[in-house]
Amino acid sequence: MKCLCLIAFLAIMTAQSYSDLGVESASSDAFVSRKGLQFILNGKPFYANGFNAYWLTYEATDPATRFKVTFALQNATIHGLTIARTWGFHDGGYRALQTAPGSYNELAFQGLDFAIAEAKRLGIKMIITFVNNYSDFGGRKQYVDWAKSKGQSVTSEDDFYTNPLVKQFYKNHVKTIVNRVNTFTKVAYKDEPTIMAWELMNEPQCKADPSGKTLTAWIREMAPYVKSLDSKHLLSTGLEGFYGDSSPKKKASLNPVAANVLGTDFIANHNIDAIDFASFHAYPDSWFPNIDEKSRSDYLRKWLEGHIEDAQNILKKPLILGEFGKPTTTPGYTQAQRDAVFNATFDIIYASAQKGGPAAGALFWHLISDGMNNFKDGLSIVLSDKSSTVNIIGQQSRKLGLIGGKGK
Ligand SMILES: *[C@@H]1O[C@H](CO)[C@@H](O)[C@H](O)[C@H]1NC(C)=O
Ligand SMILES: *[C@@H]1O[C@H](CO)[C@@H](O)[C@H](O)[C@H]1NC(C)=O
Ligand SMILES: *[C@@H]1O[C@H](CO)[C@@H](O)[C@H](O)[C@H]1NC(C)=O
Repeated sequence: MKCLCLIAFLAIMTAQSYSDLGVESASSDAFVSRKGLQFILNGKPFYANGFNAYWLTYEATDPATRFKVTFALQNATIHGLTIARTWGFHDGGYRALQTAPGSYNELAFQGLDFAIAEAKRLGIKMIITFVNNYSDFGGRKQYVDWAKSKGQSVTSEDDFYTNPLVKQFYKNHVKTIVNRVNTFTKVAYKDEPTIMAWELMNEPQCKADPSGKTLTAWIREMAPYVKSLDSKHLLSTGLEGFYGDSSPKKKASLNPVAANVLGTDFIANHNIDAIDFASFHAYPDSWFPNIDEKSRSDYLRKWLEGHIEDAQNILKKPLILGEFGKPTTTPGYTQAQRDAVFNATFDIIYASAQKGGPAAGALFWHLISDGMNNFKDGLSIVLSDKSSTVNIIGQQSRKLGLIGGKGK
């Protein structure tokens, strides 16, 4: 098997076929499902390279800026990127999707419709997140404020997980999203194979209960709720991956110390039947601002391998690295450092994937299109830059596409 893979790989490399593989592996109109440690698409294991583009709905809300979505997704497919992670929320504020509990801005919804329709046309699968931990784009804070304005006695953002009215608001949002009928494709979101999975929240945390039990209870309630409305799609948490009391050793050896009060538990939060795969993120630069680059890269390796090991042996589910990147804002930053982070991350994912293991892909944070200065920051990547990092991204797409599409 390995030999055939290598021969196929070389043949493709020689043919200089840049886009074919990744795109081919995701282009079908079938649902991604899960079997044991692997994702399955069209009866074959699905390993894919991907990216975050949280701004898709925002830019597609105005028909005059929709072309940015098209450009970004088109260029992504040229680099073999076939999983896009994006926000299925924007609670309150300018260009809100949900303007008040249960009230939606039809133009913003058509923006999300458009992003999904374009992804479908281009053969990209999507991971869509229901709410934010942070107050960007509304998030938990907006939900709690809404409840407060309706007379609920809520005091902190962490009441999000326990206040009955807030929980009802969240469920209503989930229901509205999954039942939405796309105005471009005429397909309900819950029946749309372009959507690979939902995520309950972007980076859930609950400082009010560092034990992780409050968050686990919330996931135990919300995950089956999502499944009761939509049995076709996969579901994950959106977690950063910090360890809690169910893995004391890793909590002590792998967590940044500050993460021990965040109320998350990578194992307990994912060891729930309705959660189909595990999610985690990797940001050693923000977790360890004061260590040297070598120590950071050693840590990155341990962090990635530690989670892959747990997905394989304890959770027995696939695993997606939902966010990673190398910020230009880290003191002493060089392009070679960014390349090294991408190389190391991709190599570890690939090593697991090519053995049929749980690591299915890594989604870099974050993709923007040409001229999108309003979303440019230390982590943004423009594919037309023709940088060495962009080449590394393209290579990983080819390698992963070969495993799923051809190798087995
Ligand atoms: C999540 O939200 C809390 C406030 O509710 C905030 O303190 C925390 O910083 C947020 N998480 C991250 C990773 O910033
Ligand atoms: C990244 O990997 C590529 C391909 O294997 C290699 O050519 C390049 O030198 C690596 N870059 C760094 C900074 O490690
Ligand atoms: C992407 O594609 C469009 C047209 O296909 C092009 O004009 C644009 O500059 C490309 N690059 C990016 C990063 O958007």
